[in-house]
Amino acid sequence: MTVAAGGEGDQAGFAALFGVLDLLAGVAVRVGGGWGVDLLVGRVTRAHHDMDLFVPSAELDEALRRLGAAGFSVVDDETPCRVVLASIRGRVDLGGIDYRRGGHGVQADASGDIEIFPAWGWTERVVAGRRVTCLSAEAQRLEHRGYPTRPSDAADLASIAHIDEPARFDPTVRRVEDDEADLVEGIEEASDRLLEPFGAWPLPASCPESKAAERARTAATLVAGRPPVGFARVEVVDGHPHLGQLSVLPEYGRLGIGTSLVAAACDWARRRGHRLITLTTFADIPFNAPFYRRLGFRHLREEEIGPELRQVISDEADLERFGRCITMARTLPDGDRSAAADGWRSHQRA
Ligand SMILES: CC(C)(COP(=O)(O)OP(=O)(O)OC[C@H]1O[C@@H](n2cnc3c(N)ncnc32)[C@H](O)[C@@H]1OP(=O)(O)O)[C@@H](O)C(=O)NCCC(=O)NCCS
Repeated sequence: MTVAAGGEGDQAGFAALFGVLDLLAGVAVRVGGGWGVDLLVGRVTRAHHDMDLFVPSAELDEALRRLGAAGFSVVDDETPCRVVLASIRGRVDLGGIDYRRGGHGVQADASGDIEIFPAWGWTERVVAGRRVTCLSAEAQRLEHRGYPTRPSDAADLASIAHIDEPARFDPTVRRVEDDEADLVEGIEEASDRLLEPFGAWPLPASCPESKAAERARTAATLVAGRPPVGFARVEVVDGHPHLGQLSVLPEYGRLGIGTSLVAAACDWARRRGHRLITLTTFADIPFNAPFYRRLGFRHLREEEIGPELRQVISDEADLERFGRCITMARTLPDGDRSAAADGWRSHQRA
């Protein structure tokens, strides 16, 4: 959607932003934060402390080189997720986004926290004859959730309150609601189809006894999306949280939702004082053990396996005919650092 906003009179108000965009000409820059709000409404609504700009991760180095050549120096470096620079022109908060199939973007920091930028979360505005891509009003509202509202946030939300965009996929990770149980079962069944090219589909249905045991062990079901498009089931086994199931609908696959759900499950466990989370998975399917390994899970040694986990492994023994299964665990960090329990907003405004 492209909406012309403002007239020539706005050029002066937007000069600071446009000056930086000029320095980055040719780089695919997108605008968020307060300046993004101003682009949406077509006027400068308030004084800005910084400019929240996003560039594709692959272009981050080039953007840094251009800004460096123009006198900006780095004041905070979280490459490749985010770099903050400052000069007499002001402060620029530059985020690197890894755009995926379908235009969805993922921003990940070194600790594995991720933020998803859905393709629909961007819009175009023409201000003073210049076409700029910025966060949509709906994406701005999502960005403003989950942290205490400052006066500048309240002003931003008020400025865009009248902009009515259709609600679309909400990627927030949250607890499942009572009437979503069937949907969650459906997601598991639909996502298992992803195993077909690896010769692991259809999987045998669980017997009623192991289904009941699984239900009894379940401590939390976390879902992504409203309605849900993915879920993580956290069970308690030998006193440890155990990721009993992780599923994402194939049409929403490879957008970082699975990673976000794992992060949320780990965060759920860590907040309850657990230092370890376990799981069982196929060893050789790329989105199973190799995926978990990248998220910090390691192979759990035989002597580390407790009696209840041994029972789970034995209940799943017939999966071995589809491929080698392994048991993995991740040590959870101590402390009270907020992780990506919310798939949209994670570290950005911590
Ligand atoms: C595992 C699962 C939940 C991942 O969900 P997701 O939202 O796609 O996960 P992410 O986008 O965070 O990351 C997926 C990663 O797995 C790997 N992956 C996924 N599909 C792949 C494929 N067909 N070939 C190679 N690698 C693949 C990639 O490394 C991918 O990351 P990338 O897109 O950055 O390269 C989903 O694939 C699923 O539901 N699978 C079926 C059920 C299952 O196997 N569950 C896990 C075992 S309990």
